[in-house]
Amino acid sequence: MKIDDFIRDIPDFPNPGIIFKDITPLLANHNALVSCADQLAALSPKGVNIDKVIGVESRGFIIGGMIAERLGAGFVPVRKKGKLPYKVKSKNYSLEYGEDTLEIHIDAIQPGEHVLIHDDVLATGGTAKAVCDLVVELGGVVVQCNFIMKLDFLNGKDKLNVPISSLLTY
Ligand code: PRP
Ligand code: MG
Repeated sequence: MKIDDFIRDIPDFPNPGIIFKDITPLLANHNALVSCADQLAALSPKGVNIDKVIGVESRGFIIGGMIAERLGAGFVPVRKKGKLPYKVKSKNYSLEYGEDTLEIHIDAIQPGEHVLIHDDVLATGGTAKAVCDLVVELGGVVVQCNFIMKLDFLNGKDKLNVPISSLLTY
């Protein structure tokens, strides 16, 4: 199934000049949703047992959970500042304008665990880099970052030194 038929362009959102890639039509269509999760799970590294799949708040939660189920792994949320209830490790990361903070529970990843990170979009790579750093600081091994789509003109892959997979490239 062609996933890109279910992603729509929204001009000037959230700011003038930005074309927002809206995945809600993909999420709303059962066959597209299942196919997307199936295809991303199939791209996971062969011969490696994945212990945890991380979904990045908020758009990485949905399909991240579906990938975890398919890989027989646990699911770990990485959330924005102040949302997780237990002790956290925090990481600042840069946005197009300004900074934000992502957090993970300190016991979410055990040393040596193999971790697959999922998010909807790789743009500048700041988000994915912060999540990779959190995993490494907890002693985990990032075996792949996967995305529904990557925006190559923003060069996000240059920030990451782990294998990257995506279904679509713009
Ligand atoms: C968007 C997107 C990715 C991130 C990619 O999330 O869902 O998580 O930006 O950008 P980057 O590669 O430049 O870091 P956003 O922070 O807008 O939050 P949301 O998922 O909660 O909408
Ligand atoms: Mg996001």
